[in-house]
Amino acid sequence: MQIISAEFVKSAFAEPDWPGDSKLEIAFLGRSNVGKSSLINSLLGVRGLARTSSTPGRTRALNFFLINEKFRFVDLPGYGYARAPKSMKAEWGAAAENYLAKREQLVLSIHIVDSRHEPSKQDLQLHEWLEHQQKPHLIIATKSDKLSNNELRKNLVAIERALNIDQVLVYSATTKRGRNEVWNAIEKSLKS
Ligand code: GTP
Ligand code: MG
Repeated sequence: MQIISAEFVKSAFAEPDWPGDSKLEIAFLGRSNVGKSSLINSLLGVRGLARTSSTPGRTRALNFFLINEKFRFVDLPGYGYARAPKSMKAEWGAAAENYLAKREQLVLSIHIVDSRHEPSKQDLQLHEWLEHQQKPHLIIATKSDKLSNNELRKNLVAIERALNIDQVLVYSATTKRGRNEVWNAIEKSLKS
């Protein structure tokens, strides 16, 4: 995919704020601080478009980005940030879940996990929900640059086993490893 333009559209805290047109959307979801925003920036080749931070829980709203004036990326709030107040946790979860359940323009959910760790309980719950709802989805194990090849191979097997899937895609926002594979999957879902 050649990126001609990539721009931030808006942050949406509630459903009436979601963009109203019928452009197709790709959502990025996963644990807080797992690297969702970094993945978006590295796919688009635009540093700082989606805000990243070493402080977890940075992305609180649904953030919409328009690519090539044709389709959108949606950066969803991360889950599992232990130190967030309870009321906030519920709010973030509800906003993301509502979007995933209802959004007709959504053609692919990209579920991002950390290649260094076993999927969390919430990762497993999200995965089960996506499977059960028959939502087209894809698992990406990111931060692969932080592991040796041996460790990575071992962890990928563990992740695939835990989620009961054939293949996770390996990614690194630092080295851009996996960028072509992820774009191929996105292009396929936009065409189908
Ligand atoms: P929230 O919006 O808070 O849920 O976080 P997020 O999932 O959007 O994570 P973000 O992209 O902000 O990244 C969190 C931290 O991980 C930042 O310090 C990033 O620089 C770092 N990071 C993200 N991806 C990678 C990667 O592939 N490799 C390395 N080494 N660091 C990464
Ligand atoms: Mg983020």
